Amino acid sequence: MLRKILIDCDTGIDDALALLYALKHPQVQVLGISTGFGNTSADQAAENTLRIIRLAQPGYEVPVFVGASKPLEGDWAGPNVKVHGINGIGGVVLPRSEQKVSAEPAPDWIVRIARQMPGELTLVTLGRLTNLALALQQEPRLPELLKNVVTMGGAVVAPGNASPVAEANIMGDPEAADLVMQAGFNLLLVGLDVTHRVQLSKAHLDALSRHCPPENQAISDFLQEVMEPYFDFNRHADHFLDRCPTHDPLAMLLAVDPTPGIYRKMPVRVECGGTFCRGMIVADRRTVPMEGPYITVCVDVDAERALETLLSVFTD
Ligand code: RIB
Ligand code: CA
Repeated sequence: MLRKILIDCDTGIDDALALLYALKHPQVQVLGISTGFGNTSADQAAENTLRIIRLAQPGYEVPVFVGASKPLEGDWAGPNVKVHGINGIGGVVLPRSEQKVSAEPAPDWIVRIARQMPGELTLVTLGRLTNLALALQQEPRLPELLKNVVTMGGAVVAPGNASPVAEANIMGDPEAADLVMQAGFNLLLVGLDVTHRVQLSKAHLDALSRHCPPENQAISDFLQEVMEPYFDFNRHADHFLDRCPTHDPLAMLLAVDPTPGIYRKMPVRVECGGTFCRGMIVADRRTVPMEGPYITVCVDVDAERALETLLSVFTD
């Protein structure tokens, strides 16, 4: 069965791998990709996305839409150059695409396509939840119109990465994230609890370059180049040696095939105030939890299987 997927992202290094996975997957049709601020600006993320689509050569049209340039409240802190380089993709310069971004704003596109294909679409969010929150403000029935939402974000029991307790996608717009958590979407949260356990290594990339067919050689070369600065960052951040977590790729993978994950349902809120805890996920794991819609949280994952599945779309 062909899965119809919408992607909302902030095309940085791990987003790029997630996009390539979706665009190369034979059972996935990517109906469009929207971008927002985060790892880089929304405009730069769109430019990166156009170039990634050109690299993937999916064999069908994938329109690209630009969305929010700042969070619902306050301003954007600027690009995360330390992690994702000067252009969001580690400074790697991919060939330009002939394709242009669509004129329609990202939230309008999400609402329009969800109304056109009610109950059919999976939205995968790989960045801040601002575009989805803006779409929800336009169309409060969005939780019924979308089949499901898979979100890379948060940390339920694991430490944060943007602060001791907060993950970057949630910390980047806590108000938007909390709106989304409360809206009643059929939502799967894929957070640092599991993305940190699925670690892509230099050895995986070397194996990929040995086993990829000629048509995927450019993808393999790009991954080798783009992951180098990401491995460096992760060595300094977490003492990882030539390996990195797979935040966005794991969310994309579980959106397509949830079987490597183990899940629990719980109400989830986002701390929007606080001195130390802004952006923290507050997941109620008590037997009798607080009122509120239940969110599905990925609490464990078969890391080996997830990695092999991830790379399998590029190998022969
Ligand atoms: O915390 C990891 C997430 O923040 C990933 O989506 C990464 O691309 C950044 O957006
Ligand atoms: Ca991202």
